[in-house]
Amino acid sequence: MLKSHKIEMEYYVIPIKNHFYIKPHLLQLIDNAPAETTVDDDDAQSISRYDYNIIKQKCPYWDFLIPHIDPALTIFFKNLENVRLLSGYPGMYVSAFWFQQYKKNNFHAWHTHCNNDYACVYFIELPKGASSTVFYDANDKEIKSKAKEGELLIFPANLPHCSPINMSDERKTVVAFNIKLDEGGSIVNQQNGFQ
Ligand SMILES: [Fe+2]
Repeated sequence: MLKSHKIEMEYYVIPIKNHFYIKPHLLQLIDNAPAETTVDDDDAQSISRYDYNIIKQKCPYWDFLIPHIDPALTIFFKNLENVRLLSGYPGMYVSAFWFQQYKKNNFHAWHTHCNNDYACVYFIELPKGASSTVFYDANDKEIKSKAKEGELLIFPANLPHCSPINMSDERKTVVAFNIKLDEGGSIVNQQNGFQ
């Protein structure tokens, strides 16, 4: 007999300082970045521009963003001290990053970020009518995150989540990235040399 017991999960929201300075520069760099488009809309996603599958040797929008999100990641890193020490993995690093732009009626259906510890979403453009990330919690309830434009959302990577249909005439833009805990003591992505 399998018994299911529920425990609480936490997600985190951290404002990104200087968002209104960052926003136009970042959007310009994302405009210039190579991107894919969902060609055949299906049940999984309809996204007007994204670069999840593109291998990035050098990435101007990420290079620009790193120093601006670093203070927020440092706060998160400190906050997670107990989890890091208890897990035996005191460090963390960014394992992948990408952007996604949603025009009207675009969406990203339920999914998880398996093989990662935390998923992060920086809301660069979040107009009225476009939703922040929605979670599917342990009580089978849909919970809309409290993150707003200009904020970084961090949540457990195995938590099912989605980006609901963008009902706004305006675009929604996010930069998303994954975090893994590891033996090290830094948040540098050693694989790609980000600092
Ligand atoms: Fe996701």
